[in-house]
Amino acid sequence: MSDSVSLREITDFAEALAREAGELIRHERQENTLRTDYKQQTELVTHADVMADEFITGAIRERFPDHRILSEETMPDLSQAEELDTPLWIIDPIDGTVNYAYGHPQVAVSIAYAERGQVQVGVVHAPFPNETFRATKGEGATLNGQAIRHSGATEPRQSLFATGFPYTKDNLEPLVHRLDAMIHQCRDLRRIGSAALDICWVACGRLDIYYENVSPWDFAAARLIAWEAGATVGHFGDVPDGYPADLWGRDILISAPAVWEPVRATLRSASGYD
Ligand code: IPD
Ligand code: CA
Ligand code: CA
Ligand code: CA
Repeated sequence: MSDSVSLREITDFAEALAREAGELIRHERQENTLRTDYKQQTELVTHADVMADEFITGAIRERFPDHRILSEETMPDLSQAEELDTPLWIIDPIDGTVNYAYGHPQVAVSIAYAERGQVQVGVVHAPFPNETFRATKGEGATLNGQAIRHSGATEPRQSLFATGFPYTKDNLEPLVHRLDAMIHQCRDLRRIGSAALDICWVACGRLDIYYENVSPWDFAAARLIAWEAGATVGHFGDVPDGYPADLWGRDILISAPAVWEPVRATLRSASGYD
């Protein structure tokens, strides 16, 4: 625990920040003056991403000056995730920036808090539908205060899966193989455009399966929420020795428990891992 602040208090603080950042994001889009810029190839960043990032990281720094922050828009120094001694906040100020810029509702603020590389608190707030997913380790997961649970899907054939694609289009071949295998085995695909919400939707049963390669800020909070909702969380590829699995974003697979093993086998085989 951090300086005698309980995890419950940290969760409340994270939720308050996520909701306030959500208001800021909604307001900026309503004003219809969105300024967008390119980061790389097809990746967008808007001024609202930067404003929300500054607001959240500033508030954390003020309340917990000794903690470290790993945040997409200001400090994407991934080596921070490997230093485990100091508490770490992992922030995505807008997950779903392309949706945001196009006026779609699937947008979230994601805030996670980790101690010794293990995520203890996760909050994912979607400001347009006004939905807040939250979890404190060991205490279950909620959506707007109501306990949530995975779908209980028992077969890939009857499962709806979500995935996503990177902004850099340099090596799409393995992803196409995986997609081909999954489409043949499952009910259907959704490409929703926010990894954090994809995972939270597995947590509450709106989806059965999610897999992708993403960065810690995309999934850290949602992964805990899915775990606390009883979903199986893990990787279909290998996690490097000594790296905290809670923060390793390659080859993530999160699903209703009964379909996890068969889907893992499918993804491994389509990836040429076995
Ligand atoms: C992206 C979204 C998307 C996923 C991408 C992420 P951003 O995050 O989560 O669903 O497919 O890999 O980078 O850029 O909107 O924060
Ligand atoms: Ca993201
Ligand atoms: Ca983002
Ligand atoms: Ca981004």
